[in-house]
Amino acid sequence: MTTVSTTQETHYPTFHKPAASEFAVKPWMDNYETFCKTYDWNVTEKELRLPRANGYNKATICIDDHPPEVMKRPALVWEGTDGKKEIYTFEDLKRETSKAAHLFKNLGLQKGDRVFVFLERIPELYMVVFGALKTQALVGPLFAAFGPDAIKDRIQDCQARYVVTSPALKHRLDSILPECPSVEKVIVVDREGSYKSPQAHEVLYFDTIKSVPDTFEVPYTDKDDYSIIHYTSGTTGKPKGAVHRHYAVVSQAATSKYVLDLHPEQDIYWCTADPGWVTGTSYGMFGPWALGATSVVYEGPFKADTWYRIIQDYKVTVWYTAPTAIRMLMKAGDDVVGKYDLSSLRHLLSVGEPLNPEAIVWGKKVYGHVFHDTWWQTETGCMHIINFPSMDVKPGSMGRPHPGVEGAILDDNWNPLPPGSEGHLALRPKAPSIFRTYWNREDVYQSRFKNGWYITGDRASLDEDGYFWFFGRSDDIINTAGHLVGPFEVESTLIEHPAVAEAGVIGKPDPERMEIVKAFVSLKNGYTPSDELKEDIQRFVRNILAAHAYPREIEFVESLPKTRSGKIMRRLLKARDLGLPEGDTSTLED
Ligand code: WT7
Repeated sequence: MTTVSTTQETHYPTFHKPAASEFAVKPWMDNYETFCKTYDWNVTEKELRLPRANGYNKATICIDDHPPEVMKRPALVWEGTDGKKEIYTFEDLKRETSKAAHLFKNLGLQKGDRVFVFLERIPELYMVVFGALKTQALVGPLFAAFGPDAIKDRIQDCQARYVVTSPALKHRLDSILPECPSVEKVIVVDREGSYKSPQAHEVLYFDTIKSVPDTFEVPYTDKDDYSIIHYTSGTTGKPKGAVHRHYAVVSQAATSKYVLDLHPEQDIYWCTADPGWVTGTSYGMFGPWALGATSVVYEGPFKADTWYRIIQDYKVTVWYTAPTAIRMLMKAGDDVVGKYDLSSLRHLLSVGEPLNPEAIVWGKKVYGHVFHDTWWQTETGCMHIINFPSMDVKPGSMGRPHPGVEGAILDDNWNPLPPGSEGHLALRPKAPSIFRTYWNREDVYQSRFKNGWYITGDRASLDEDGYFWFFGRSDDIINTAGHLVGPFEVESTLIEHPAVAEAGVIGKPDPERMEIVKAFVSLKNGYTPSDELKEDIQRFVRNILAAHAYPREIEFVESLPKTRSGKIMRRLLKARDLGLPEGDTSTLED
């Protein structure tokens, strides 16, 4: 057993839970301990009035079947890359998703058929996803930046029958379609109206939905019926498709209430994640809309000025984003923050990778709010370990388990370890949104469960107060001269150095020390690589972190390889460094 103390615990002060009077809006959960005693997921199931007359269909729950006053509320507030703005109420979405459902039905879609949605972040993406869910398809949203091979692997794995795409993205699909005989029809969403010559296997979306009814009777849907599939990279092999049920909506709604703290009658919520990834569906569609909340979707790419303008223009109150974005905002500087009125913001959250303590401290300084880190995975389908609004935030900690979640740190024999020990982060697989299988890989799915625990693949520790601290993926931890070093700790420290924009840290094999810590570092504008700077950074880390944990090697790079969800791909850094095959890079960002 290895006992560790994370630097974050000692280095950064705790942000204490605000007094009741300090909240702009009283949080749904005002006392974590008391709440945990009585809460279980079925509380939310009841609040959602489940089962409905037709069971558990996500489209019914999120779109069709809200009280009349909610149906009139904006559900989707959209701004396109070109500045175009559109607003859809729940009533509007009910009509549009019904038309999409008819389109699929008329094509012959059967329950359980796989539908892939390969679209830009446009309103039709949302309509098509829910339309397909109404027909009981299993829906796979694909990130618009995917290349042909990533699309092909997924279609082939899933034997998808229908793919929805746009004229701009279609060429990447066309090139691999001959190798994908399962695909019967390609539905083309042509917002510009410029695509005039569809091929025999193509269906024009807007032409087709003109002539179908705008009401659709959603068939009875069981809680265990499949709804969404998201592919996630493993350490080996091709990405695996994690399959979720319609029932997942229960814990997605619960966490949207208690973690995002959405008060639908007054909040404007912005999730910056793309629906090609699980955050963009669980919290860009299902959870918030199950509560009847208004969601902002911005189609365009990241730019600090644009993001701040979106918050200002739409008076965003609750903002769910990612550490990479926060670091880019930090890089853009404090001055740009002052150009916009961000006073509507009241609750800030983050997910996807460790949230550096530095980013939390900076957020508090420039926005006046603490970023609340949340931990979960594609497989868990909803947030599991969380910094709740009414909880002390210890910068660097992922927080505490959601009520209804049991988490533990296990040893290598899958037995729970006491606080203070570093081990496997494991969860009891109880949340309604926990995945049900990896498509075609039931064996790999089963291998993720030990002694009744779901093994997350992360390493973490638990402190005496019940807070979880992240170390890295099981295979990322560096062992240098018998000391375990979490790359996150080193990266966090590195980015505190004034010259460092981003850092990725790996363990590099070393004959003497087993491994040494090696850092890949990109510099902020205005800094140039030099040996002096290297030494300065090394000294800096030695002083802040630990003598054994400072990077003995530093390599300056232009940028770091990252996944679409913003995680630095240490695996890739390592493979490149050692001259090994790079493996699957389909989730790599451009
Ligand atoms: C892995 C899951 C579900 C969000 C999108 C990513 C890492 C996620 C945190 C966090 C430290 C985090 C873990 C996890 N991760 N959130 N708050 N702190 N690490 O989903 O691609 O399935 O990745 O991302 O390693 O296992 P994903």
